[in-house]
Amino acid sequence: MQIVIIGSGNVAYHMAKSFTLNGISLAQIFGRNEKELNKISEELHIPYSAEQLKDADLYIICVSDTSVEEVSKLITQKNCLVAHTSGSLPKEILAGDYRKASFYPLQTFSKSKDLEYGKIPFFIEAENEEDKKILFKIASEISENVMESSHEKRKYIHLTAVFACNFVNHLFSRAKEISDSQEIPFEYFLPLIDETVQKIHEIEPKMAQTGPAVRNDKRVLQLHEQLLQDESLEIYKTMNHSIQKMYEL
Ligand SMILES: NC(=O)c1ccc[n+]([C@@H]2O[C@H](COP(=O)([O-])OP(=O)(O)OC[C@H]3O[C@@H](n4cnc5c(N)ncnc54)[C@H](OP(=O)(O)O)[C@@H]3O)[C@@H](O)[C@H]2O)c1
Repeated sequence: MQIVIIGSGNVAYHMAKSFTLNGISLAQIFGRNEKELNKISEELHIPYSAEQLKDADLYIICVSDTSVEEVSKLITQKNCLVAHTSGSLPKEILAGDYRKASFYPLQTFSKSKDLEYGKIPFFIEAENEEDKKILFKIASEISENVMESSHEKRKYIHLTAVFACNFVNHLFSRAKEISDSQEIPFEYFLPLIDETVQKIHEIEPKMAQTGPAVRNDKRVLQLHEQLLQDESLEIYKTMNHSIQKMYEL
């Protein structure tokens, strides 16, 4: 089966790497960013092009959500399967006269960070059983955790991921701003951060909450508010409000 990956960003790189490491050969990596394509091609030994899209049986589009539709029009072939990797777009956003699917890996991908691919949940949606089988087979070569998901469900999977990953990471960035402002090494906080994440493998997040808001310690809450300004102050107040609502304080 001829497989082409489209894109040269974080997901394209990790998809290409996970395919290659698991012995799934790629006919091409295609995109518009020649420099990035060249880097991926050199590392993973996959042919690349920024000009001529190869004919293939399966295309996996890994470009920004806002460009998926536009990029999907570059595939003019009819007898092929095309999947995108977005958590929130329907497969129908793909705009050609081919079979459409979604191939969503639930993980946070950055090129500079190695990943273990074997446990990444993959969510698959396709038009027919045959295509589902093709995508299940490929994803199962990479991961032991492959499931089917409708677009309706996938939207909520992605939304949950935004809270559980993107927002949490943003709070790490805000936390680092505060520690940097006082020249406190952020490394001091890594054991705390690791334990916060490890803990919810064993305890429900709601049971694991600690801190001044859940203790309803008004004196500390007030003191912290005096130390903050702008966005960080707004976030602090919103988070405390949310915690206190959840625990009916
Ligand atoms: N990152 C994650 O953790 C993650 C996880 C699961 C799913 N996803 C999904 O995977 C997809 C790709 O995300 P990503 O994180 O890999 O994005 P990214 O790192 O920002 O890379 C986006 C890629 O899309 C290309 N692109 C954007 N507009 C284009 C256009 N008009 N024509 C051709 N190429 C275009 C970019 O090329 P240039 O370099 O030239 O801009 C780049 O190669 C998205 O649908 C995203 O929702 C992401």
